[in-house]
Amino acid sequence: MSQTDIFQRINELRTLIRRYDYHYYVLDDPIVSDAEYDALMAELRALEAAHPELITPDSPTQRVSGTPASQFAKVRHPQPMLSLGNAFSRSDLVAWRDRALRLLGNDAAIACVVEPKIDGLAIALTFRDGQFIQGATRGDGEIGEDVTANLRTISSIPLVLYPPDNTSDPDLPATLPTMIEVRGEVYMRTADFEALNDRLAAAGEKIFANPRNAAAGSLRQKDPAITAARPLRFFAYGVGPVEGVNLTSQWQTLRYLRALGFPVNQDARRFTDFDQVLAYCDEWMARRDSLPYEADGMVIKIDDFAQQRELGVVGRDPRWAIAFKFPAREAITRLLDITVNVGRTGVVTPNAELEPVQIGGVTVRNASLHNADYITQRDIRIGDYVIVKRAGDVIPYVVGPVVARRDGSERPWQFPSHCPACGSPLEREEGEAAWRCNNFSICPAQLVRRVEHFVSRAALDIVGMGERQAELFVQLGLVRDVADLFYLKAEQLEGIEGFGPKRIANLLAAIDAARQRPLDRLIVGLGIRYVGTVAAQTLVNALGSLDAIMNARQEELEQIPGIGPVAAASIVDFFSRPENRALIEKLRAAGLRLNGAPQHERQSDSLAGKTFVITGTLPSMTREQASALIIAHGGKVTDNVSKKTSYVVAGTNAGSKLAKATQLNIPVLDEASLLALIGIAPTSAAAQPAPEETPTATESGQLSLPLEQ
Ligand code: IVH
Repeated sequence: MSQTDIFQRINELRTLIRRYDYHYYVLDDPIVSDAEYDALMAELRALEAAHPELITPDSPTQRVSGTPASQFAKVRHPQPMLSLGNAFSRSDLVAWRDRALRLLGNDAAIACVVEPKIDGLAIALTFRDGQFIQGATRGDGEIGEDVTANLRTISSIPLVLYPPDNTSDPDLPATLPTMIEVRGEVYMRTADFEALNDRLAAAGEKIFANPRNAAAGSLRQKDPAITAARPLRFFAYGVGPVEGVNLTSQWQTLRYLRALGFPVNQDARRFTDFDQVLAYCDEWMARRDSLPYEADGMVIKIDDFAQQRELGVVGRDPRWAIAFKFPAREAITRLLDITVNVGRTGVVTPNAELEPVQIGGVTVRNASLHNADYITQRDIRIGDYVIVKRAGDVIPYVVGPVVARRDGSERPWQFPSHCPACGSPLEREEGEAAWRCNNFSICPAQLVRRVEHFVSRAALDIVGMGERQAELFVQLGLVRDVADLFYLKAEQLEGIEGFGPKRIANLLAAIDAARQRPLDRLIVGLGIRYVGTVAAQTLVNALGSLDAIMNARQEELEQIPGIGPVAAASIVDFFSRPENRALIEKLRAAGLRLNGAPQHERQSDSLAGKTFVITGTLPSMTREQASALIIAHGGKVTDNVSKKTSYVVAGTNAGSKLAKATQLNIPVLDEASLLALIGIAPTSAAAQPAPEETPTATESGQLSLPLEQ
């Protein structure tokens, strides 16, 4: 290659990489694979290494530069970086709006921009003639720290700006500002934060209490190479001083920043009707779990800059903006003890017994500690103050200890070597995190959990049976396997406290009715690993009877669309065990239905080739009904969200599956849109928005402490 060719290729590579960064970080819509991207980067690095004279500071390869700083220089902000007053209820917001109206003149029209309040840290980025020249933390609002070298490593911050293309939005300046200070938030996505903590814990390093501390701690590293290895991102939400262009409103500013190549929150909205502002805040409070990052509220800003100037600032808080805070989801409390639970498959999980603590309006007494490694890696001790997180429908879990609050009385905890229920030694398979009690047929704890599952709504739905009755019947020796339920006699129950003749008759009638449940429900009840409602229906549709399923070979099962190799292996394993075969015979003798009629007659092909995941509570149908409908129209339903999922159908209280869908950019449908997709007009019940519980925000103290010292 000639020198000109090399120069050209280098420029081409830089342009391509910037374009791919823009798609990835700003549009959140990657257009190349990681491998392709890495290859371009590698080519650019190689060319620059061979021709160092062609390296420019704004090259994508030059994000990590300079030597570790011993301390950060102080920077005085040319305009103070403000903070925000808080609102905790609708009436706080209305009071804020009324004050603004009073000051502006009661007949003033106000428009508001509403943006998610990302929980990270505020920074200011200065660009002169399109070049990134300095970046600073907020500090106390007047004076921050110069963290330019670290900010340069964040790929979602552009190092160079290009004049924006304003053809589709002529209201935007078409030129670059001679100088602009872009303000925004550096943050970490929840999934990235959790992966970082796992990595730090595995390396024996201190973990972070929450994504905000992780972002702050990562940005304040003395060595930019460490910051570069941390998954930091940036959102722009405003500007400080600007020269050379005239911006007149917040909404125009956000669009201009986006056009310049900054990531701007796609959920920002402008409203002229204040009721819509309130509704939007409520909507996000209910849906906060679907965001891939932690939002601690919504920021409401009066759109027009002239009105903003008129309203001014009191202390540090502008009168033209306010934060509507969501209830906190984290709390610090004491870990009183660790107990272990034995699950229905024998997995033994540690459980935190906590000093009761309120989180988001709910009293939390227990929390998950995941597994033995989690506790050792994070060095969680009994007596520790721990950070507990409760988000959406996820079981509350312990994030980690607050080491700074230890007084020496805390004791490390030992995972038991034997099953607390049956005394058999616990075993752990190579590469697995979980300890197991493998005494499947004898262990009373496993049996109780299996009975509980067998009688649950998704399985045989036996009214009058639950956790307490399962425990009692197992303890009394009345139930030694799930089939024993169908052989219970009134005489056996007479004399048990609380079991009068009426209750006994009702229970036996409920058990009797369960003999008629469809086969797929029985299969769910068996509790075969990786076989939930959807897989059970698929098996029955494909093979028709329990005998056929029991005798199917692994390859045959794998042929069935929707049954993967892992589920197939698990089914074969389950039915290869003599005790399970004996159980089926006992169920057969008890008169349960072991044949299934194909349940879904094909009605159309409108969903052919599409894969769905259903989550949350739908307004007018159960998840099973929705699933049957999708299958009847040629679609497929699976249990887990992956890149192969075409749509996620979400109702109220949807949790991690919805979050995963957002993360993977998978379209989310509500019930009405699903029906529309099939071409069915929704019934009036389905067309109405789901009745949503709107929790009221309560004031919550600042509870999180940095774990990194
Ligand atoms: S505006 C009036 N917009 O919240 C100007 N701040 O409590 C104040 N924050 O320090 C900032 N998302 O770190 C604004 N969309 C957003 C925000 C946001 C998060 C943070 C920011 C600020 C703090 C104020």
